[in-house]
Amino acid sequence: MWRKASAAALLALAVGYFYYGSPELPEHILQYVGLPGLQTSTAPQSSLEEVISSAWEALITLPSRQWSKVAVGVNACVDVVVSGVGLLQALAVDPGAGSDHEVLHSKEDLKEAFIHYMARGAAAERFFSDQEVFHRIARAAAEYPGAKLYVGGNAALIGQKFATYPDLMVLLCGPVGPKLHEMLDEQIVVPPESLQETDEYHLILEYKAGEQWGSTQAPQANRFIFSHDVSNGGMSSLETFVASLEEFEPDLVVLSGLHMMEGQGRALWEARLKEAVAAISEIRRDIPIHLELASLTDKDFMNSIMEEQVMPVVSSIGLNEQELLFLSQAGAGPHAELPSWKGVPDVGRVSDILLWILERHGRSDPASEADLTRIHFHTLAYHILATVEGHWGNQAAAVMAGARVASSQACGLRSVDVGKVQLRAPLEFSSSHGEPREALTLDPARPVTVWRRGNVTFHFTPVLVCKQPLRTVGLGDAISAEGLVYSEVKTPQPF
Ligand SMILES: *[C@@H]1O[C@H](CO)[C@@H](O)[C@H](O)[C@H]1NC(C)=O
Repeated sequence: MWRKASAAALLALAVGYFYYGSPELPEHILQYVGLPGLQTSTAPQSSLEEVISSAWEALITLPSRQWSKVAVGVNACVDVVVSGVGLLQALAVDPGAGSDHEVLHSKEDLKEAFIHYMARGAAAERFFSDQEVFHRIARAAAEYPGAKLYVGGNAALIGQKFATYPDLMVLLCGPVGPKLHEMLDEQIVVPPESLQETDEYHLILEYKAGEQWGSTQAPQANRFIFSHDVSNGGMSSLETFVASLEEFEPDLVVLSGLHMMEGQGRALWEARLKEAVAAISEIRRDIPIHLELASLTDKDFMNSIMEEQVMPVVSSIGLNEQELLFLSQAGAGPHAELPSWKGVPDVGRVSDILLWILERHGRSDPASEADLTRIHFHTLAYHILATVEGHWGNQAAAVMAGARVASSQACGLRSVDVGKVQLRAPLEFSSSHGEPREALTLDPARPVTVWRRGNVTFHFTPVLVCKQPLRTVGLGDAISAEGLVYSEVKTPQPF
C-alpha cells in the first residue's frame, strides 16, 4: 500500500515539476494523472484540486489583443471594518432592546437596528440620514483601536484589480476623498472632477458568533453596514464619467454602482435611472461596456433595470446567482417559480436563464438592436461565461482566470493553495433543466466544459472554494475584472 502511495506522490511531484519546467507538455501528463485508478490511491498532492489548479496555470493565457485603456466608474468609498459592540460602547450608548429601522436617523436608531440584526446573526445594510452625526461616528470608527480601512465600492475594487496589470491604463471616476485617493494604486488615474474634500465612509460593524452585549447574543458571526453615502446613492459621478471618456479614449468601459440607488427610495431611483440610461447611451457604440450588477436586492429595481433598457445598451454583464434568479423572476423567465437556490445552483437551470437573457435582452439574433453579447456568471462553487457566437474570444482562459482569482483571493492569497481549497462543483451536469438536454462532464485535467445552445456558447469551470475564507468583500469585482483582462472582443465581420 505505502509503495503505491509513494509512487503516486512521486508522480505528483514530477508533474508539479513539469508544469513549471515545460508549459507546453502538461496536457499529455495530465491525462495520465487523471486515470481513475490512480486518482483513488493518490496522496493529497494529486488531489482533484491540485489537478485543476495546475491545469489552470498551464491553460490560462492572455488574449492576442489586449486592452490598453480601461475606464471604470462610478461607485467608490472607504470601508471601515470595526467591532460593532466596541464602537457602540465607545459612542457611549447602552445596550437594550432591538428594533429595526428602515432608515437610521440617530445613534439610538443605529443601536436598536444593530441589536435587532445581531440577535438574528443576519446581515443588513442601512442609510444614516443625519450627515453631521454620521461624520462624528465615522471619525470615531476610523480611530477605534483595531479598525481596518479598505478600498471599497465595486468600481474602485475593479480598478484596483485592473491596476495589478502594469501595462493597463486605468481611469477611475467616483467620489474619491483624500483617504481613498491615498489608498488607491498609483497606476490609477482619477480625473480632478472626481476628487472631493471628504471621503464616503461605509461603516461595517462586525460581531463574532456567540458575542454578547447586554442580553443580546449573536447566534453566528455577521456584519451590519451603514453609511451616509449621497454621492454613490445618486451615482453623482456618472455624467462626469461619461464626459471624461471622450478625452481618455478607453477601449473598454466598466460600470457599476447602479445598486446604490436602491437605498434612495423608489421616486428618486426611478428618475435617476432614466438619466443614467441617457448618460450611458452617450458612450460611443464601438466601445464595449461591462456592467457589474452585483449587490442588487430589490426586485422592482431589477425589473426597472431591464425595462429602462439598461441591459440592451451594455455589451457585457457580471452577476451572481441571486441576481440571476431576480432577473428571471422580474421578467417571468425560466425557473422564476424558484423562491431561491438551494445549495449549489443547478447548472442546467443557470444555463436556461443565461440563454433566456441573451435571447431576450441580448444580441443572440444578429438582427437585434441590443448590444448585450456576454454574461459572466459567478457563484461560490463555479462560474459560467456565456457569449454570443462571434463577438468574444479567449473565453476558456477568461472563465478560468476568474475562477482562479476567486480561489486564491478568498483565502487572502495571491495564488491558489491547494491545501486550503475544496472542489464543490458537480463534475456531471446537464446543459439544460428542460429538453433537449445534453449530459456534460468536467475533465479536471482540462477544467473547462463547453456547450452550445442556439447562437450562445457556454464555458463552465469550477471554483476551488476556500475552506476558511478571510475576506470575501469584492470577490465578485475581482472575478469580473480578471475575466475581462483575459477576454478579447472581436471586430464584427462586415457582410
Ligand atoms: C442565430 O443567428 C441566426 C443568424 O446567424 C439567426 O437567423 C437566428 O435567428 C439566431 N437565433 C436566435 C435564437 O436568435
